[in-house]
Amino acid sequence: MSDQQKKIAGEAAALRVEAGMVVGLGTGSTAAWFVKALAARGLDGLRCVPTSEATADLARELGLTLSTLDDTPRIDLTVDGADEVGPGLALIKGGGAALLREKLVWEASERCLVIADAAKVVKVLGQFPLPIEVVAFGHKTTANRIADVLLDHDIQMPARLRQADRGVVRTDGGNVIYDARCDAIHDVVRLADDLKLITGVVEHGLFLDLADEAIIGTDSGVELLLP
Ligand code: 5RP
Repeated sequence: MSDQQKKIAGEAAALRVEAGMVVGLGTGSTAAWFVKALAARGLDGLRCVPTSEATADLARELGLTLSTLDDTPRIDLTVDGADEVGPGLALIKGGGAALLREKLVWEASERCLVIADAAKVVKVLGQFPLPIEVVAFGHKTTANRIADVLLDHDIQMPARLRQADRGVVRTDGGNVIYDARCDAIHDVVRLADDLKLITGVVEHGLFLDLADEAIIGTDSGVELLLP
């Protein structure tokens, strides 16, 4: 069952943390298992940089010491989930709308460990809709530019504004998210570059050349993947 797979991946990742480290805490249900297992270890001198308000709340509740990226700009190890884990540990992230803070924390980290259940491992990225974080001001205009870029990548469906029960989803930074149903992304590097060039796009969920290792939970234990 995927929740059990997420749990064992999170627990295995918590064993990689040593006393005194600065640790980046990811966002999502798998990362939450890691945060719980980390708190249970009771290591001395940890400082934790959360990637979302939700993770900060959980970590605080469990008694972990929190820090910020500004106070601890160099992070020893970040552990975070993913929506898809592709070849070379190229990832799609942002299903939990935390992609911007996640990428800021990942890029400040000496080492990044991705944790996921087995269903997240794919041969080609793109079945999971690619999250694109967009400034709220003029976001429909930005969405038209995103659609042009997607068409240039043979992706016919325009990206959809993410909605929840209470209306349009806002990120912790106050931005909105467009989800692009790509099916298969053939050139992840070019798509990542092209999206970043659009004014109004703050960040996208392609995490390329960032993960150092993946711990994948399976029904028979954890498997380790390298780029
Ligand atoms: C949040 C993320 C999450 O890591 C991703 O959505 C995976 O979530 P889960 O562990 O709940 O499956 O990128 O922005």
